Amino acid sequence: MSHVHKNSCRVCKGMDLTRILSLGEHPPVDNFIDVEHINDEKRYPLDVYFCGTCNLVQLLDVVAEEKLFHGDYAYFSSASKPLVDHFRSYADDLQKENLTEGDLVVDIGSNDGILLQNFLEKYHVLGIEPSGNVAEAARKKGIETTDGFFTVEMAKKIVETHGKAKVVSANNVFAHIDNLDEIVRGVQELLTDDGVFVSESHYLLDLVEKLEFDTVYHEHLCYYSVKPLQRLFERFDMEVSDVRRVDVHGGSIRVYARKKSGAVALSVQELLTLEANAGLHTLERFDSFQKDVEAVRDTLVTLVRRFRAEGKVVTAYGAPAKGNTLLNFCEFTADDLKYVTDTTSYKIGLLTPGSHIPVVSPDILRTETPDYILLLAWNYRDFILEKEKELRERGAQFIIPIPNVEIV
Ligand code: TMP
Ligand code: ZN
Repeated sequence: MSHVHKNSCRVCKGMDLTRILSLGEHPPVDNFIDVEHINDEKRYPLDVYFCGTCNLVQLLDVVAEEKLFHGDYAYFSSASKPLVDHFRSYADDLQKENLTEGDLVVDIGSNDGILLQNFLEKYHVLGIEPSGNVAEAARKKGIETTDGFFTVEMAKKIVETHGKAKVVSANNVFAHIDNLDEIVRGVQELLTDDGVFVSESHYLLDLVEKLEFDTVYHEHLCYYSVKPLQRLFERFDMEVSDVRRVDVHGGSIRVYARKKSGAVALSVQELLTLEANAGLHTLERFDSFQKDVEAVRDTLVTLVRRFRAEGKVVTAYGAPAKGNTLLNFCEFTADDLKYVTDTTSYKIGLLTPGSHIPVVSPDILRTETPDYILLLAWNYRDFILEKEKELRERGAQFIIPIPNVEIV
């Protein structure tokens, strides 16, 4: 089966689920393709639901892993310099607050080692990464990396071979997990009694307030807020012990969870209150969500089509996963956007899924000057605007799609 539609909530198993956003049918965002495979492309529903019981916002249409990624995985975290810096400071926090020299740190979904590379000197590290090509990049940096998906069984094996972990992390991957129970059970097995599970995911409050609809794609099954996470960990005799908002990927939440001890930071209640005041625990908050998202789309489409009608050259910058949701929801094609530049060598030479826009090396921008460039990697806005100063001086203007459509 390539896709299933669930009818119960991932966290509380309740069935009081209401659709709050429908983006139509989309191909998986990481399936960059070559011309020969255009006709093989499959689309799946991209609809977001709200659980009336625990308030988890989630997708119920689950696309099989082998359909989400054909062949190699296209995403290398370290392709984005600001992300490398972010994970360095994240690692500093963990060293100061949670680790003692010689401790074991296990990272679930360790990608190319972007977090663990910071721990190599003083700690034992183990990455878990199911994508062979990405895991290989981590090993080249000297990071021991296990292939496969994290399970209770894998956790038990790690304890046998490496001992228990003081920190288990899962960043930009905890929201990708369909079977949360299995992961939390595995984490319980793996953690020392005073250990901490720490996880960063895109934050629902940012998504809703800034209409970051493009962060919705099939890989992102959950759009977390504190309330449902508390409920999840409680079911396993653990508790959310600390939370922080972090300015990465358009606004994320870092959640710390421990085996129950009652030591809960004030930040947990503070963020819960913020969420409640923002209406995130009520269905009514999402009444106009669909309409608001469509308004952003319409503004963008009108703008790009107007520039094209004036004979301007419009391209796109960055081919992140979320860019593909935006391109497909706007129904942009290579007639609208001539090409998209991306620093990931794996993506260069392929076409974006669904919209079939050629991905090219950013080197092209050293000789060509598009009139307008749609910034799909808008989460790196400041970094990219600074980096592309010379291009902007030559006359290229950036269209920023989110959080507000702007031309700079
Ligand atoms: P991310 O937002 O999920 O980290 O993905 C960002 C994508 O944008 C990734 O494919 C790399 C690409 N990118 C560029 O092409 N140029 C840049 O300057 C940056 C920061 C990212
Ligand atoms: Zn629920």
